[in-house]
Amino acid sequence: MSSTSEAPDASPACDVLVVGGGVIGLVTAWRAAQRGLVTAVVDPAPGGGAARVAAGMLAAVTELHYGERTLLALNLASARRYPEFAAELSDATGLDLGHRRCGTLAVALDADDRAHLRELHAFQLRSGLESEWLTGRECRRLEPMLAPGVRGGLRVDGDHQIDPRRLAAALLAACERAGVAFHRVAAERLTVDRDRATGVVTADGTALRAGRVVLAAGSLSGRLAGVPEGVLPPVRPVKGQVLRLTMPAGRPPLLTRTVRAVVRGNPLYLVPRESGELVVGATSEELGWDTTVTAGGVYALLRDAHELVPGITELPLTETLAGLRPASPDNAPLLGPTALDGLLLATGHYRNGVLLTPVTGDVMAHVLTTGVLPEEARPFAPERFAAAPAPAPAPMEQSA
Ligand code: GLY
Repeated sequence: MSSTSEAPDASPACDVLVVGGGVIGLVTAWRAAQRGLVTAVVDPAPGGGAARVAAGMLAAVTELHYGERTLLALNLASARRYPEFAAELSDATGLDLGHRRCGTLAVALDADDRAHLRELHAFQLRSGLESEWLTGRECRRLEPMLAPGVRGGLRVDGDHQIDPRRLAAALLAACERAGVAFHRVAAERLTVDRDRATGVVTADGTALRAGRVVLAAGSLSGRLAGVPEGVLPPVRPVKGQVLRLTMPAGRPPLLTRTVRAVVRGNPLYLVPRESGELVVGATSEELGWDTTVTAGGVYALLRDAHELVPGITELPLTETLAGLRPASPDNAPLLGPTALDGLLLATGHYRNGVLLTPVTGDVMAHVLTTGVLPEEARPFAPERFAAAPAPAPAPMEQSA
């Protein structure tokens, strides 16, 4: 690479400039500042991003998918860190994160769902995870508002939840207290000088200079101008529509733990908060940058949720929202240095951004202070997506 796009009239440099103020960017900035690095975040609305929409399930076990065993290790490492991480963040800010160790129940409504859940259970056990098979009756004993037709389920007491909006607010406050500077404007272009990232130019034309730039802009990470081809992360947006219902004050909660299901092939979850909020999600739609809340999306979520917990239709529908998950080609994040000196990635967390927040903060702080990607993050190095060399021409083509 030999491009040069240095901006004139640059501001004083910081050690680390984080592009993106979602939970991943904020945790990176907080941890970097705690290690003594002069850190700034550039984002027009820090504390926003996909976490505003997310339900906040810490569901390493119930969200296990085939082909994601490597990711499972990182998910479990982050889940194990959550209690200490949440306590530290609460202590640092005085804010409650809504961290609830309530466990999760994944249930089946018909024979197909049950077969699917049996498969998942076997896979969980083969992976050394704790998960208990329950009959339909046992499921309803735990959660009496479940539909009478529930055919069985998995009890996973280790899959908890956090309120992602509270998490984002606390990370923002922690960053401010740790001295992180905020530039509330969009980053428009990466600046590169002599094959090294040197900062960004913002939408208002300001040049922000930095020793290192961390691209942590969620689904927008693949769109920052100035990032050389081959370094730009292969991250795409996957739309999720989510509903929020609210239990009327004084009424007992409909559910005491997160309930998940796959209803006619559609994954569904209901996440009850102590505040009375009940989050119902989520669609999964490959529709590019579209964030429209559609009648069809809301209908499908309510129809499936009603089938699972008939009582939900009595609750006020208080919010409908769509967000964009930052998905990578293997559903796992991209963490650490890129082929461009001075540019690091913390993006592509797809369905697991909230869960992976603690481990991402630790990994990024470690690599920023030592230059070395910790062992647990090596499978997630961005270089795994480096373009494969073009195949050698076949003999016939060579002689043509
Ligand atoms: N992790 C939940 C979702 O992506 O919908």
